[in-house]
Amino acid sequence: MRSALRLSALSLIVVVGLQAVLLAQRKHPVSGRVIAPVMGVAGAGWLERPEREDEEQTSRAVAALKLRSGMVVADIGAGSGYYTVRMARAVGAEGRVYATDIQQGMLDIITRRLTRDRLPQIIPVLSGEDDPKLPPAVLDLALMVDVYHELAEPQAFIRRLKASLKPDGRLVLVEFRKEDPSVPIRPEHKMSVAQVRQELGADGFDIAEVIDVLPWQHIIVLKAR
Ligand SMILES: C[S@@+](CC[C@H](N)C(=O)[O-])C[C@H]1O[C@@H](n2cnc3c(N)ncnc32)[C@H](O)[C@@H]1O
Repeated sequence: MRSALRLSALSLIVVVGLQAVLLAQRKHPVSGRVIAPVMGVAGAGWLERPEREDEEQTSRAVAALKLRSGMVVADIGAGSGYYTVRMARAVGAEGRVYATDIQQGMLDIITRRLTRDRLPQIIPVLSGEDDPKLPPAVLDLALMVDVYHELAEPQAFIRRLKASLKPDGRLVLVEFRKEDPSVPIRPEHKMSVAQVRQELGADGFDIAEVIDVLPWQHIIVLKAR
């Protein structure tokens, strides 16, 4: 009896371990890129580190988005809301910022923040791995900072996100430059322009502009075909 229990416990460990390996090695079906694991809520402090402005020049990234008062935008994979609050100030009280994440813990941080900073134009949204859960044809811009490479179901997710963009809406990816080995980030958390062109091209997007003004990251602006 005891040895049977030990055996089933062992097989459970093997199955769970195998699943973890398979999940860790999930690949994009078009490019074969290894999909990165999701950053947990424990990483929220790193997203808010004071040196982020210096290291990533985040103000410059926000300026490059050319946001205007009254725009409706989304911060997809918003994490702790670092970019969400900056976008909310740029679109103002007349605008709207959907802050989406798959982790309720991240959305809890954002909810506390929007109450404290009185930014009611922020709408937290719990999205699914394959669905941003946003209304159709509302977005002037969807921003994904350091998120696209974590999407577990990139094709289904991007297809649904595309339906939430207005006809002239922009999808903007900010990704650590894979082409540059001196950028101090693990390889699976980086993307090259060629990878974005290949993967998003297959999802019906063209690169409209690559804005390379940041120390470590590409800003890649895409438009639906
Ligand atoms: C590295 S963090 C970046 C957070 C934020 N964009 C920033 O730069 O401060 C990546 C975030 O994307 C979220 N994420 C991963 N897959 C997602 C998906 N399919 N939909 C929404 N959020 C997702 C994770 O939960 C995590 O909070």
